[in-house]
Amino acid sequence: MASMSPDKQLLSSAPDSEDLGVEVSLRPRSFSEYIGQKRIVDKLGVFVEAALGRRESLDHVLLFGPPGLGKTTLAHIIAHEMETSIRTTSGPVLERAGDLAAILTNLQPGEVLFIDEIHRLGPTVEEILYPALEDYSLDLIIGQGPAARTMRIDLPPFTLVGATTRAGLITAPLRARFGIVHRLDFYQPKELSTIIRRSGQLLEISIDEAGADEIAGRSRGTPRVANRLLRRVRDYAQVHGSGTIDFESASSALKLLEVDEFGFDEVDRKILATLIDQYQGGPAGIQALAAAVGEDRGTLEDLYEPYLIQEGFLRRTPRGRIATRRAYDHLGIQPPSGVVGSLF
Ligand SMILES: Nc1ncnc2c1ncn2[C@@H]1O[C@H](COP(=O)(O)OP(=O)(O)OP(=O)(O)O)[C@@H](O)[C@H]1O
Ligand SMILES: [Mg+2]
Repeated sequence: MASMSPDKQLLSSAPDSEDLGVEVSLRPRSFSEYIGQKRIVDKLGVFVEAALGRRESLDHVLLFGPPGLGKTTLAHIIAHEMETSIRTTSGPVLERAGDLAAILTNLQPGEVLFIDEIHRLGPTVEEILYPALEDYSLDLIIGQGPAARTMRIDLPPFTLVGATTRAGLITAPLRARFGIVHRLDFYQPKELSTIIRRSGQLLEISIDEAGADEIAGRSRGTPRVANRLLRRVRDYAQVHGSGTIDFESASSALKLLEVDEFGFDEVDRKILATLIDQYQGGPAGIQALAAAVGEDRGTLEDLYEPYLIQEGFLRRTPRGRIATRRAYDHLGIQPPSGVVGSLF
């Protein structure tokens, strides 16, 4: 039913203003506090130890993956583990080459420079990054016209940590300059449950394991969503329950909040329903699909698709998006014969 849809912000993996305030206090500070993503954490742990042992800076790191999975958190942890400080900026902020040059020349030896949304760097800014990453130098053009000459400036060694939700938009030459490239995956419910209990402790919210598991299962594999649902469920438990979040209070609260068993919101359901009703299950082009659900293409690609694909409701094919059998089942619609399951 269309009216049964939660507040749109509630399940979005993009941060809202309240998240931004509370997230800093919930952010794990070290590898040992960072839950899940074992593959990257193990690897980084070794690289960090080796770099520290050699008294060198860590190789440049590129982190990609959907919003709210812990890229910014990991960048801060890398700096902490390397026993250094971090400077943060982002692709859209660095409008001119001079903006980046100013930051680079002011870095302390060994510092971490974090560039968020690195896929949004302009070409001229990106170009001055290449020699900086390769051999810690900067080629500056001094003067104009026939009198112009280039001057090479040495930079202190540093580590660039780049983050992006769109690995596909990183240019090949930029990507090639990162020694460590890693994709963050959606979290398992058990990991999210651990994150929720940790956040509960930090925020002094009393929650038991079954309560945490219940929230975890509906958090779209995303710590940011898990932490947000925890805060909403707390309000409910405070008003209606004993104050402790247990299975009962968590499930009633989530029901009241209209969060379904997969953590889908109105847009998720609209995407699937549009594909099935208007495109006979697909394939449908992303642009057309975005227009039909009233969102822009980037929002669909960044916030919605990754989880729908991961959970096997949607498939991306060269001809467009296709609804799987699971999508039909979820909406309670009988699939026509020949509809693929999620595994094929
Ligand atoms: N592995 C983790 N363990 C515990 N908490 C985590 C973990 N990863 C993320 N979080 C929590 O989720 C919040 C969001 O993470 P973060 O801001 O690092 O995501 P992001 O990937 O940078 O998102 P965006 O793409 O929107 O910038 C953090 O403040 C932190 O509280
Ligand atoms: Mg971030």
